[in-house]
Amino acid sequence: MNKDQLQADSAMHQDIDSDFSKIIDAGLSRRRFMQGGATAMGLFLAANPLTQAVAASAQPNSKLLGFDKIPTSTADTFVVPEGYVAKPLISWGDPILQGAPMFDESGKQPSSAQAGQFGDNTDGMSFFPLSEDRALLAVNNEYTNYKLLFDHQGQAMTADDVKKAQAAHGVSVFEIKRSNDGWEYIKDSKYNRRITANTEMMLTGPAAGHDLMKTSADASGKKVLGTFNNCANGETPWGTYLTCEENFNGYFAKPGGEQDVHQKRYGIKDDSKYQWYKFDDRFDVTKEANEPNRHGWVVEIDPMDPTATPLKRTALGRFKHENAAVTVADNGHVVVYLGDDERGEHIYKFVSRNKYNPSNQAANRDLLEQGTLYVARFNAKDGEVRGTGEWIELTYGKNGLTKENGFNSQAEVMIFAREAATVVGATTMDRPEWVAVHPETKTVCCTLTNNKNRGKKDNQPVGGPNPRANNKYGQIVRWNEANGDNTAATFKWDLFLVAGNPTVHKDFYAGSANITDENMFNSPDGLGFDQGGRLWIMTDGKYSNEGDFAGMGNNQVLVADPATGEVRRFATGPIACELTGLAFSPDQRTVFIGVQHPGEKDKPSHFPAGGNSKPRSTIMVVQRKDGGIIAA
Ligand code: FEO
Ligand code: CA
Ligand code: CA
Repeated sequence: MNKDQLQADSAMHQDIDSDFSKIIDAGLSRRRFMQGGATAMGLFLAANPLTQAVAASAQPNSKLLGFDKIPTSTADTFVVPEGYVAKPLISWGDPILQGAPMFDESGKQPSSAQAGQFGDNTDGMSFFPLSEDRALLAVNNEYTNYKLLFDHQGQAMTADDVKKAQAAHGVSVFEIKRSNDGWEYIKDSKYNRRITANTEMMLTGPAAGHDLMKTSADASGKKVLGTFNNCANGETPWGTYLTCEENFNGYFAKPGGEQDVHQKRYGIKDDSKYQWYKFDDRFDVTKEANEPNRHGWVVEIDPMDPTATPLKRTALGRFKHENAAVTVADNGHVVVYLGDDERGEHIYKFVSRNKYNPSNQAANRDLLEQGTLYVARFNAKDGEVRGTGEWIELTYGKNGLTKENGFNSQAEVMIFAREAATVVGATTMDRPEWVAVHPETKTVCCTLTNNKNRGKKDNQPVGGPNPRANNKYGQIVRWNEANGDNTAATFKWDLFLVAGNPTVHKDFYAGSANITDENMFNSPDGLGFDQGGRLWIMTDGKYSNEGDFAGMGNNQVLVADPATGEVRRFATGPIACELTGLAFSPDQRTVFIGVQHPGEKDKPSHFPAGGNSKPRSTIMVVQRKDGGIIAA
């Protein structure tokens, strides 16, 4: 354990109640919130007395953060602090399988080319060491942009174009090795693999084999093709990769058909911009009513075996999965925290039935097959932004999950987990994105990215962890499970930060006191702790640099000290990108950061190659010039 880790540990092992009150008060200062105009803010303040001592705790000087903050940027580059260097590792279309051609930016390459190349729109990723100098990266390829993928911009789709789009999705696994220059990827490694929207996988757990999972191609209800819209990720202590299916609904269409209550809740529409349903019947819900039920899961992949069948883990529930934050509780059960990224949806946790066995990794392989899924309810007194919470079990026969309320089995509770969460009274959140668990203290954080519906819809009232109407900026909620036990039924929560723009607003929308004109941002999304206990925050927000977002520039990466609340900007991305995907080498001397969709919506990016080139999603390798630990 190094000096930085020791510092982080001692900071995080402080009494959690006093730590909580410090940060909350740092977060929601008298200066900001006394000036709020709305009625809800008045309530908020009346119950939230603050002191001078508390306001002082937001002052910068963290010993945990050892890098120089950088300013915002509107340039078409990836910027890191003084003393750091960032280089591209791999970009959309780079060949990874044997025989795959080089990237060709004409948009005319066939599906067979894309099937051997790195997929589009890099997202969540994990690092799996092979040796000191070699490793595998497993990387999600979330979606694809037809304006860049095709020479016809998606205006003249063919059956092969649909196959090409399907091949641009999924997961890429490839080997990397250390070089004099950082890291490089190895083309043709025996480990390299593309998993796409057409790769055969198995459904496991309580929903596998249920009638609602059967299709004309699969009478067993257990065999499914593909994964797509793979947003963020997780990794297990037994060495597997978890990829999370997010906006799967957008690939299905029910042309001319009326959506049933389940299809409405999960967002099946009568059309799909991807147009797969026009050439591939399983995406036409009038023809295959159950195919959407086979998507919206967490998928477990063994990155070390390119022939291993990916396993969809239905015990973790079906919704628009963001990431899967895995921890082993002190009692040995595996806990997976899960966010459902849609306005007014929920935060979940899965607890494995069986215990983790550190001395026999093979015995851990099916730990995600059986267990209990819970959903979070946050309690708070009127106007307070801290409180208690409880995990409500989503088990058939309990908590109203009965025939009277439309549930006939545990399979149905998992397939329609969102509807089960509503029945049990879960709290509607401001779009839960990534969850992260502190490596030592087991404190849990979740980004709530933004929510324009907050305060407008009856089921999304202002209050508790979602304290602002028309929430343009987002916040990070944090909780500690009772007695430090991640399997506990109750927790205490607060807000670690409330994003905002203190140069434009003087009220609630200025954000918490740890947000200043020097570190402001909007829409926190990617989230992770490094081994030293620093909290990494990646943004997927508005980059107009105008109005409510004036002075924020392009999307960015920030690093925070969980104990002091200080937030410092570490990186800025190129034009019209989102920064997403975060992985560290075990020695903490390299961080891999994903640049997704630079130049989206025809914005003028030519990242990473410059000149007049097509913009391409790219993974960046970031290191210190002196070889030191990142951000320390
Ligand atoms: Fe794919 Fe919720 O971000
Ligand atoms: Ca995201
Ligand atoms: Ca987002």
